[in-house]
Amino acid sequence: MLSRQLAARLQTFETPFYLYDINLLRQTLESLTAVASKYNFKLHYAIKANYDPHILSVIREYGLGIDCASGGEIRAAIEAGFSPDGIVYAGVGKKDKELQYAIHTGIFSINCESLEELALIDRLAGELGKVQDIALRINPDIDPKTNSCIDTGQADSKFGISYEEVMANADLIKSYKNVRIRGMHLHIGSQIRELHVFQYLCDKVNAIVDYLTGMGFNFEFVDVGGGLGVNYDIPENEPVPNFASVFAIINQYLNVSGREVHFEFGRSIVAQCGELITRVLFRKDTATGRKLVIVDASMTELIRPALYGAYHNIENITSEENRKDRYTIVGTACESTDVFNQSLTLPVTVRGDLLTIKSAGAYGMSMASRYNLHDLPGAVYSDEL
Ligand code: LLP
Repeated sequence: MLSRQLAARLQTFETPFYLYDINLLRQTLESLTAVASKYNFKLHYAIKANYDPHILSVIREYGLGIDCASGGEIRAAIEAGFSPDGIVYAGVGKKDKELQYAIHTGIFSINCESLEELALIDRLAGELGKVQDIALRINPDIDPKTNSCIDTGQADSKFGISYEEVMANADLIKSYKNVRIRGMHLHIGSQIRELHVFQYLCDKVNAIVDYLTGMGFNFEFVDVGGGLGVNYDIPENEPVPNFASVFAIINQYLNVSGREVHFEFGRSIVAQCGELITRVLFRKDTATGRKLVIVDASMTELIRPALYGAYHNIENITSEENRKDRYTIVGTACESTDVFNQSLTLPVTVRGDLLTIKSAGAYGMSMASRYNLHDLPGAVYSDEL
């Protein structure tokens, strides 16, 4: 990890802050784009994972489009120089003004998640004198074998339209004049580490596409979403995720038949290039004997542990102690769930030490809040040091 090499330099920055390894980001993008081009797969970066302008400017160099979840994200992508014709937009609750903005901007595809939304897009496009390209976001009912807080493609989920509903309303769906149904979209969840799940996805997509094609739909592209997981346990073992494996599965099992295949990766592109650097404020013991390390970061900088019970590997990067001890690492926020790790063995840790919370480049800064009126954390980039 970069922070270990730079520990002395990092002492001079105000903590907490995100440290981004731009070389690692580039290596990741090189690996991703090299394998994708082998299969002619189209890539969109899920901007919700991290919308830092410097990160976006690097991603843009590699020719990716953007996957957005709101009008604000579309605006951020366009301001960062991404072309609207590479932007896709999903979300169960798109507001009228967000849809108007997306239609007006002429994005590649609105990924439509309900019949009511479809009728609204048709009306708004008509009012703007446009015909909007869309994809139907189908809920394929697949268990992605991940943390249940971040799965999205099971039958009872709020995401997408069930294929039963599409079949039952095929004529209505095809009757709209101001939308052009060009694609099918699916996204089954995030932090997927069991790659055979992508094979199930292909099997389902093949069946659904076949069936709906038989009913008169014509899908020019299939967008299989994102979801590839990263190694949070020991990030050093897998700094660049295994894009080749997931692409090989999709290539082998998805019945492409001349259709474009699109992906929307977020976490796998940016998680490993980011670390949250935080300083130890205090050490104290509870009456029950638990040894607390209180750091100057909290759930307001990185909410994943408090929100999902997510694990992040943590290291003390400045201690030169050989003795070790077992600690609970807690943050500054006024919430009992503001705990980064319940039980972690570290070198004996004291006030002033710097800790790194690793694999924090995805859904870290983008989910930061100002609860307790904390300042938002800063960012330090390896290529500007
Ligand atoms: N496409 C759609 C439609 C999505 O909803 C998402 C993520 C992605 C693509 C990108 O998925 P990824 O490749 O990053 O797995 N805050 C949670 C993750 C929520 C993911 C939401 N959707 C976390 O911290 O784990």
